[in-house]
Amino acid sequence: MPTFHSSTGLAAGLLVCAITVTQARMAQAPASVKDVMVTMTVPASTVIFAAQSESPTTAAGWLAVQEAAQIMAESGRLLTRPPLAKSDEHWTEMAAAMVAEAEKTLAVAGTRDADAIAEAGDAVYLTCKSCHDRFPPPGR
Ligand code: HEC
Repeated sequence: MPTFHSSTGLAAGLLVCAITVTQARMAQAPASVKDVMVTMTVPASTVIFAAQSESPTTAAGWLAVQEAAQIMAESGRLLTRPPLAKSDEHWTEMAAAMVAEAEKTLAVAGTRDADAIAEAGDAVYLTCKSCHDRFPPPGR
């Protein structure tokens, strides 16, 4: 029976370990819409809007725009899932619109077309504006 006991102990240890890891992941999940805006959406938009006024001249510059577009798309997806999803169809639509325009920006950045990136950035901006018009950030 010692073998049984030690493997039970090991299993219990692994379980505690798994719970700790899960809790650590949950602690890292964005707690609020503001967190998502500040840590993901806004920095990504800074890169995309900068590329609108001055399109990248290097492969690394275009890659940065692609990465920003991916982060923005992911930030929009987070807004459509618990715990940040709202039971409001406009909320989901508007978050999905940002995801869609970020994905278009990702595709356009791959073509390195300056005019197209300017248009994609305008479309992204409209998705920010329409959501903020309906769900205004505090102080606006
Ligand atoms: C689906 C809705 C939605 C979309 C899309 C959206 N936002 Fe927001 N945003 C919000 C809400 C709601 C807040 C307020 C969060 C809070 O303070 O509780 C906010 C807050 C902000 C803030 C203020 C952050 C602070 O420091 O308080 C900025 C800046 C911002 N958004 C920028 C953007 C940009 C740029 C985009 C588009 C690329 C965008 N948002 C798209 C809903 C949205």
